[in-house]
Amino acid sequence: MSNIKPEDFFKNIISHSKEYGFIFQSSEIYDGLSAVYDYGQMGVELKKNIRDYWWKSMVQMHENIVGIDTAIFMHPTTWKASGHIDAFNDPLIDNKDSKKRYRADVLIEEHVSKIEDKINKEIEKAAGRFENFDRTLFRSTNGRVKEYQEKIDIINARFKTALNNNDLEEIKKIIIDLEIVCPISGSRNWTDVRQFNLMFSTSIGSVSEEANTIYLRPETAQGIFVNYLNVQKTGRMKIPFGIAQTGKAFRNEIVARQFIFRMREFEQMEMQFFIKPGTEMEWYEHWKKIRLSWHLSLGLGKEKYRFHDHLKLAHYANAACDIEFEFPFGYKELEGIHSRTDFDLKQHEQFSGKKLQYFDPELNQSYVPFVIETSVGLDRLFLSILSSAFKIEKLEGDETRTVMSLPAALAPYKAAIFPLLKKDGLPELSESIMNSLKFDFNLAYDEKDTIGKRYRRHDAIGTPFCITVDHQSIEDKTVTIRDRDTMKQSRIKIDELKSFLDQHVGIQNLLKNL
Ligand code: GAP
Repeated sequence: MSNIKPEDFFKNIISHSKEYGFIFQSSEIYDGLSAVYDYGQMGVELKKNIRDYWWKSMVQMHENIVGIDTAIFMHPTTWKASGHIDAFNDPLIDNKDSKKRYRADVLIEEHVSKIEDKINKEIEKAAGRFENFDRTLFRSTNGRVKEYQEKIDIINARFKTALNNNDLEEIKKIIIDLEIVCPISGSRNWTDVRQFNLMFSTSIGSVSEEANTIYLRPETAQGIFVNYLNVQKTGRMKIPFGIAQTGKAFRNEIVARQFIFRMREFEQMEMQFFIKPGTEMEWYEHWKKIRLSWHLSLGLGKEKYRFHDHLKLAHYANAACDIEFEFPFGYKELEGIHSRTDFDLKQHEQFSGKKLQYFDPELNQSYVPFVIETSVGLDRLFLSILSSAFKIEKLEGDETRTVMSLPAALAPYKAAIFPLLKKDGLPELSESIMNSLKFDFNLAYDEKDTIGKRYRRHDAIGTPFCITVDHQSIEDKTVTIRDRDTMKQSRIKIDELKSFLDQHVGIQNLLKNL
């Protein structure tokens, strides 16, 4: 890796994403719309491949999980029943000098992260001095580290109590006591903390008097809950079983920064797993394990993931944690795993007056199932993959190359086919190879510029293999195939290309790691 400063690394990813057609700012010609992004011609392929991998591993690989696709608009009572109208709030605070608005909870969490950074620095410093260094022992014995940890524990305990009691005054007091300043004005001149509902609303119906307030769904989960009985009955599903869906969700985020990490319109991939009451802790642990191993199967590095238990449980949960990922700006939530109890189904029973129960033939009784939910943001997953794959490598001399080492199965193009020259029958042979492979793989055909430049273009978008057709290809029906990561080239028979690509870029390469 060449020497990019950490603060520039993330900026490089953002500009690279735009330059190569992965992500554009929405409505850019009108100066953009904050926290809304469009996926370009490369981004849409990568995003689709990630979604397909999730779908295959959740639905195709589990006989007791089925998928659905529900509408974004739902009956407004859905959101009253789910608790979102009353409780889907973020605590916000303004700085009176800069007039900037912040999430009060994020200000505190970022303060805690800074203390954690100090601990990590102490550990790294000591690790460099001693051989066979024991990090856990150092953490529990070093005086300065213990002091930092105590500070964190005190803040977290106070913060947790304030959150659970919805005590907005106390949250403000914590910000004041920790001497948190506004990063823009540098002042501590804060307003009171207020609650802000994150749902977008609009109205339905063409005649204004008939207009009715309706919400853009803030999570896809409710579409699953209201269809629970439809799916259970028509699919003759037996508990335990799951319903999965992917789709857009909308939140009027107060602080919308960090590129596609926190957006106002984003995509979720959620699965609700319906279980017998009383078995929820077992299934909660089960899904924590399954989902972590799914993330690890992408091969981005085990050390990049960690679990984080929620300090404040959402109104529907009796246990909840996040799988966090080490993004370029630190460890942040990637996926949530929640034990949602029977809260949602019971609320929908109450508000709709319809029974949403399961008759358990083994127990010979009916009950409202409990639910374990796994919920991952597709855009965050995209960012985790993109930021791990993006590299600027030093080559010989002053030369560098930008390469996206995407997991091959997720790459937008699986291979690029280049005729060495635009003559001597090489384009025709290249096209016939392309035609024989394009039913099975998304391929690029490129005959412009030198082979070196073509390699660089495809390194930059993450194409795992480049296939070059040269004069020898006409004679002996072989081509060169170049590996994106090692840059090594070898010769291979044209007839063997399909099985080579199947073996190296097929989704089964990821599925078999599960
Ligand atoms: N149904 C449960 C639920 O929605 P959540 O923790 O609020 O839980 C789940 O959201 C996941 O959705 C998060 O882990 C994150 O990956 C993604 N997500 C949430 N808000 C997002 C936003 N504003 N932009 C992008 N992704 C978001």
